[in-house]
Amino acid sequence: MIPIHILGSGAMACLWASYFNTNHNINFIRRHANENVFRFTLKPQDRLIEGKSFTANNLNEPITHLIVATKAFDAKSAIQSVEHRLTPNTQILLLQNGMGSQQEIAQAFKQYAVYACSSTEGAYKIDAHTLMHAGKGVNNIGAMTKKAKEDKLTQWLPAEHFKWHENIEPILWRKLIVNGAINPLTLLYQCKNGELINQPSLQIHMKKICLELDQLLSKLPFKMSPAFEIATQVCQQTANNYSSMYQDGKYSHPTEIDFITGYLVNKCIEMSVDCPENEKILKKVKQLNLGP
Ligand code: PAF
Repeated sequence: MIPIHILGSGAMACLWASYFNTNHNINFIRRHANENVFRFTLKPQDRLIEGKSFTANNLNEPITHLIVATKAFDAKSAIQSVEHRLTPNTQILLLQNGMGSQQEIAQAFKQYAVYACSSTEGAYKIDAHTLMHAGKGVNNIGAMTKKAKEDKLTQWLPAEHFKWHENIEPILWRKLIVNGAINPLTLLYQCKNGELINQPSLQIHMKKICLELDQLLSKLPFKMSPAFEIATQVCQQTANNYSSMYQDGKYSHPTEIDFITGYLVNKCIEMSVDCPENEKILKKVKQLNLGP
């Protein structure tokens, strides 16, 4: 039995736990673990899934396979909290949105095999113990450190649940652009993804943001379709969804804005690209004071 440790117990943590069959021993590492077992129901299949539940302080075995399913702003400190349990062969899989946290972690934990995943899976928690797998997507994974190799990953991740990429950076960038175009606007306008393309004034706003992002993309070493085209396609495909940032706002949770628009604005400054619209929405989201 390969022991899998998962940092977090949110939607992505539960979704990843559901990928493994009972031959794996699932261990959730949570901020508060009041019970020894964490159970949830996976919908629409109505499958009951469970794993042992720990806090970083009461873990009692080495961590060899670690899935980091926290928000971007918590990821590094969450890994640091279990660092004493890592072994020289530990593999670390990062599931964070946005950009910046993966690079920072890869730098701080470069002696380990660190992978980054950019997912198009759709899942949300109905309540603390119920996960809705709303849309089947793809988990795109690639290496962040030298030790990270595809064959090591296939030893523990079920092949049908991921696609390997020799260079994950363009994939992370594509998702960053999508999140940068869609997420802050859905929070600021309190709307579903689809409304960004169906309401003309919102569409114009999204276009302005995207045109600035195109200027930035033109300075990067890989080709990508225009940001507005990519974002429009995702808005069509996810028209009825509320973005993760909208949901953070709804539950007064901290947003990942620093790792999305914050990262994009910093890159624009670094590369001398004007981005007044992106700066404006960054400021507005921060003014909501949701944190972190
Ligand atoms: O962050 C999200 O919610 C999603 O990445 C996306 C693609 C914007 C769809 O809602």
